[in-house]
Amino acid sequence: MTHQTADITQAVLDRLDGCTDERFKQILSAVIRHAHALVREVDLTPDEWMAAIQFLTRVGQTCDTKRQEFILLSDTLGISMLVVQLEQARRSAKALQDKTARAMPTEATVQGPFYWEGAPELPLGADIGEGMPGEPAYYSGRVTDTHGRPIARCCVDVWSGDGEGVYDMQMGEEAGMRLRARFYTDDEGHYRFWSIKPTYYPVPDDGPVGDMLRRMGRHPNRPGHIHMMVYRDGYVPLTTHLFAADSPYLDSDAVFGVRDSLIVPYEKHAPGTAPDGRRMDRPFHTCRYDFTLAPAA
Ligand code: BEZ
Ligand code: FE
Repeated sequence: MTHQTADITQAVLDRLDGCTDERFKQILSAVIRHAHALVREVDLTPDEWMAAIQFLTRVGQTCDTKRQEFILLSDTLGISMLVVQLEQARRSAKALQDKTARAMPTEATVQGPFYWEGAPELPLGADIGEGMPGEPAYYSGRVTDTHGRPIARCCVDVWSGDGEGVYDMQMGEEAGMRLRARFYTDDEGHYRFWSIKPTYYPVPDDGPVGDMLRRMGRHPNRPGHIHMMVYRDGYVPLTTHLFAADSPYLDSDAVFGVRDSLIVPYEKHAPGTAPDGRRMDRPFHTCRYDFTLAPAA
């Protein structure tokens, strides 16, 4: 009798025989098959496997309550965005089945690490960029459903870095919440607020993921964008960004989050009267974007 296994991959897969959770079994068997195939494909050495384990250990050790290096790893390897795209495809397929739908739901993109739940609820038209570095920008648009009906009292939860690419969460404890707020659409589904025009910035690259990017010969930058989470009961929530059309790095976003449908021109204006009647004594931008949400059921 031999205790030796002829095919170690099959032997590991066989140990899932007692697993009763079908989805877990499907995922784990794929992990085993693909990981074993990878080891065979590159003919991995023990030193290389140990280096990989040490890298993943450092990724874990870099995580704390404010920093999630594993998500950053997933983002920079394109896995987060692939998962978002698969979900988007499911939503679009559902919308296509609805013969009365007039529009596709707005495309989603990665959430990123800088969402902070509980941003202040502010009245429409409020300025969240006041006193922050960056050129002022007036944002406006409408939220409708896939049938073109306005969604009133819809939350538009926004956050961005400042005009130098720095998020409040990176400014130190005392900064508190900056450049983020929740706005609720009016009866016709309109939203509007003031902030700044965001600029490009690097993802946190002072940890193991930054080392990986450098070793890959990659830059860590993301094109300028403002994050939006748009949600209301009865609709599929949307997590997305608007990207500034003139920003560098649109073609090489470090986290692969750019979708053409989310690239928006920021129109620059000389000092004067803004669309909401506000007198501006310095140049400002306007950015208009309409969101479409799919019904939840
Ligand atoms: C961001 O957009 O803020 C972001 C997204 C993914 C990784 C790091 C930062
Ligand atoms: Fe961001």
